[in-house]
Amino acid sequence: MPVAAIVPAAGRGERLGGDLPKALHEVRGHPLVWHAVDALARGAQLLEVVVVAPREHAGPMTDALVDVAVPTRVVAGGASRQVSVAAGLDALDPRADLVLVHDAARPLLPPAMVARVVAALAAGAEGVVPVVPAVDTIKQVDDAGLVVATLVRSNLRMVQTPQGFRRDVLARAHACARAAGVVDASDDATLLERLGRPVRTVAGDGYAFKVTHPVDLTLLDLLLGGSTGRLDRHRDRQEDERDQDAPSLQGGGHGDERSRG
Ligand code: CTP
Ligand code: MG
Repeated sequence: MPVAAIVPAAGRGERLGGDLPKALHEVRGHPLVWHAVDALARGAQLLEVVVVAPREHAGPMTDALVDVAVPTRVVAGGASRQVSVAAGLDALDPRADLVLVHDAARPLLPPAMVARVVAALAAGAEGVVPVVPAVDTIKQVDDAGLVVATLVRSNLRMVQTPQGFRRDVLARAHACARAAGVVDASDDATLLERLGRPVRTVAGDGYAFKVTHPVDLTLLDLLLGGSTGRLDRHRDRQEDERDQDAPSLQGGGHGDERSRG
């Protein structure tokens, strides 16, 4: 089944700071959005990638992507991630039956992780999210900052991208959310959950961390710039499915997370 991708890149990056949108922040000669699209294209055969840019930065983002190894189009985004993804979905090649949605802010996505998401879709899943176990204890607090509850950590997962969907299901989920006035879901799987549709999990990877705060840029720069090619070694390891025991940042995993739902 033909697969296409949407890369939401229209956020400002307020937590990162700086004048440019986060996706245009350059690391090792290319902006984050270039790294994210390049990584996606290494992991799956894609019809196209629709990159969703801030309206006033569509030109620079188009220029930044000229040399990626996959057909790419840039469309204007909206005020929230959900609205930006919806704009990408409206513009997507009608031949695509399956859709990957991947944050521009996750530049080190391992190709094997993309393959796991696509494989779960090919096996019949309607929605797929890559996850890693929560490493910190997570507490619910009230508006005053008082602890209300401690969540059971063994049941908690941190969710990454690319998330994968059957295109018709994702389009319906976005349409229903919009009709209900929901505009700020922080990921796309949430919109399937609203409709009671099943969302499967596959193993994510610590290297697919989201660049959010300045410290993440320091980590990214180190990983991309190691003089002996730390990242290349990581990619080789990712592509070797037999290497089950290799360590990964933040406990991100090899092998499949058990599917749920
Ligand atoms: N995004 C988008 N349109 C928006 C907001 C976010 O396309 N209106 C994209 C971002 O560009 C990013 C992804 O959604 O690739 C994940 O969002 P996040 O990490 O929160 O990025 P920003 O919203 O840019 O950052 P911040 O919340 O710190 O402002
Ligand atoms: Mg944001």
